[in-house]
Amino acid sequence: MELDFSVLIPYMHMFWKGVCVTIQASFLGVLFGSALGIFIGSFRVMPFKPLRYLMATYIYVLRGTPLMIQLFLIYFGLPALGVNLDAATAGILGIGINSSGYVGEIVRGGIEGVPKGQWEAAKMLGLSYWQTMKSIILPQAIRHMLPAIGNEFVTLIKESSLLSVLAISDLTMVGQQVRSVTYASFETFIFVALVYLVLTSVTSGALQLLENRWKVK
Ligand code: ARG
Repeated sequence: MELDFSVLIPYMHMFWKGVCVTIQASFLGVLFGSALGIFIGSFRVMPFKPLRYLMATYIYVLRGTPLMIQLFLIYFGLPALGVNLDAATAGILGIGINSSGYVGEIVRGGIEGVPKGQWEAAKMLGLSYWQTMKSIILPQAIRHMLPAIGNEFVTLIKESSLLSVLAISDLTMVGQQVRSVTYASFETFIFVALVYLVLTSVTSGALQLLENRWKVK
């Protein structure tokens, strides 16, 4: 068997567009997921039990069901409720919501890692729960959470390949399109895999650099 990667050359502009879509979707997904996840995680440790259980259930369901089904529910299911989203919005929403479940747990871990004495000290100063959370606990917790949130970004670069099931032209979708015209299936997907590998390696490397600079001393 001979592999001929040169058949892919005429499609490089398509791959490039796919890479851009993949990066954008993962970045927006992790941004939205983290913003939402910070709330979920903060509610998750609240003294008010019903909210705590509600958030635990939210995380449980999101982590216990496949991302692909969640995407289908948002894109194909929500129209039954009159909510019609275009594929890109549904995709980023789906990835973000899924990610918020994982970030919620990261945030919970980060918050629980802050020594209890800090809560007591803040209470003595007369700070409310949210004041303490916002100005005392989260700023410290976030430094411990950042590496894990960075990993979440790397995870989403790979997981975003599921967007192709909504016909979004991400790197995976472009791979399928190129495969269907060149029939060079092996070459196409070896190339696609390598591009993902480069994306995840560069991102991990960059995050590692940031982490070393921001290390809690
Ligand atoms: N492949 C997993 C699933 O289908 C998605 C995992 C998402 N992971 C994450 N850290 N956001 O459920």
